[in-house]
Amino acid sequence: MATKAIIGLLFVFLQFATICEAITLSTNSRWIIDQGTGKRVKLTCANWAAHMEPMLPEGLEKKPVSYIASQIAKLGFNCVRLTWATYMFTRPEYVNLKVSESLDRYSLAAAKAGIGKNNAQFLEMSVIDVQKAVVGELGKNNLMVVLDNTVSMPTWCCSDDDGNGFWGDKYFAVDEWLQGLTAVARAYKGNPAVVAMSLRNELRGKGQNLLDWYRYMKAGAQTVHTENPDFLIVVSGTSYDSDLSFLKLTDFEIGINNKIVFEAHWYTFGTGADKWEAQTNNLCADFTKTAQRNYLFLTSQYHAYPLFLSEFGIDQRGTNEADNRYISCLLAAVAEIDIDWALWAFQGSYIFREGKPDVDEAYGVMNFNWDAPRNPGFVDRLQILRQTNQVADSKNPSYYIMLHPQSGQCVQIGNTNNVLLANCKTASRWDQHEDGGLMKLSGSSLCLAVAGDGGAASVSGNCRSKWKYVSSSGLQLAAQDGMGKYFCLEMNGSDHSTVITKKCLCVGDDLRDFSTCADNPEVQWFKLVPANEP
Ligand SMILES: *[C@@H]1O[C@H](CO)[C@@H](O)[C@H](O)[C@H]1NC(C)=O
Repeated sequence: MATKAIIGLLFVFLQFATICEAITLSTNSRWIIDQGTGKRVKLTCANWAAHMEPMLPEGLEKKPVSYIASQIAKLGFNCVRLTWATYMFTRPEYVNLKVSESLDRYSLAAAKAGIGKNNAQFLEMSVIDVQKAVVGELGKNNLMVVLDNTVSMPTWCCSDDDGNGFWGDKYFAVDEWLQGLTAVARAYKGNPAVVAMSLRNELRGKGQNLLDWYRYMKAGAQTVHTENPDFLIVVSGTSYDSDLSFLKLTDFEIGINNKIVFEAHWYTFGTGADKWEAQTNNLCADFTKTAQRNYLFLTSQYHAYPLFLSEFGIDQRGTNEADNRYISCLLAAVAEIDIDWALWAFQGSYIFREGKPDVDEAYGVMNFNWDAPRNPGFVDRLQILRQTNQVADSKNPSYYIMLHPQSGQCVQIGNTNNVLLANCKTASRWDQHEDGGLMKLSGSSLCLAVAGDGGAASVSGNCRSKWKYVSSSGLQLAAQDGMGKYFCLEMNGSDHSTVITKKCLCVGDDLRDFSTCADNPEVQWFKLVPANEP
């Protein structure tokens, strides 16, 4: 008996040791690092909503939690931004609620039956215990967890006047918020999966002001840090987490070293497809400039901080042309600075959203039934963002890789010195490129050569083509042929896997931008992404 028990214990211990390697994160300048080794750890997360009325991670009524967690890992994410609502931890009528009761409150009989079928063990557990079990399952899959305080009252987020927008709003009392942060920091103390807590999602509304922002964000950070000094603390901006520009003027001085990360959200909401279709380059330029001014600057300023792009995403059905073009623009900008991120969203559906049961999520990685990815090509397109391209302690990149954001692929030189699009893991390396200079393959004497209208791009020892970035987006690379005419790199539209040179889209022969343009220049967007030897 005794031996068996010891062997049993040993087995449990070994299992725990292999699958739940606890990692403590901290920061070094603009990088998130493993506190133990000092090496960079890049958060490549999916958002998983769990803050809505039933207070359950979405999808548990459709698939077993073990399946969902393993799918997140299988699809290439290393982390989950799991959302929660304050009341779940502060109000007795929520704290003690069993899953079955929580679903009954909204007459969600079908969801209850679904959980009974797929995750029967959860039905009579409290909503908090289910959250803990889900976090445990994510940990078993080696997924890191960032716990995001999304709302106070459990509900869909966000609008200006939903009472959850800013401290002092109807449901958003400062003390109760701090109490919730304390409870969560305590509940996950020593939990090997949880690496960070974000203090509040998408501040917004009429009450917004910077005096309170600094005051309460500091209080929140101190509260979490006091309770649990291991966690990274993620601090979000104003105006739906789109603005941290005020940090240029007043730093977030708080006396907590190496634990503060800022977060931002970047969507194309409010900019219609017609505008994107008419002015793709201009809009991309404007979008990138605004993001730079509002939050991307944080990684490069004197007091540099890590920036976690904790929400971005598109309608994965591919039918929203504004989304389709914005995401290429975003991929180029985000790949360049190699920041941490979380895609909105993993869930393919909601148990209950805005008064309706079983609602589809068009931005979801999973489809409505959670049995397959909604759009496998989209997940593949994130490959450059999943890679850790820059190391934490390097000052300068050692080479560049060339991303084609529309395909998500990178440029690779083929056997016949032809130019291909392939997985970014095997991307060819380029030397630093001076605008208007040669484009040289690292460690070789070969240069990228222009080939006229519709010809195949290639590399050759005959280094003559001088490449400059053209168009307002700065993402089209052009060089002159022997006659002095400019041609741009372009993905071959017939095979989507070779690179050709073609007449530059949306600019004239003099390379001046067209004010509007019916062509889609995305096919000609190429971005040099700085990288280091790992
Ligand atoms: C573009 O792709 C098509 C289809 O594979 C191929 O036949 C053609 O040669 C390619 N164009 C160039 C210039 O390589």
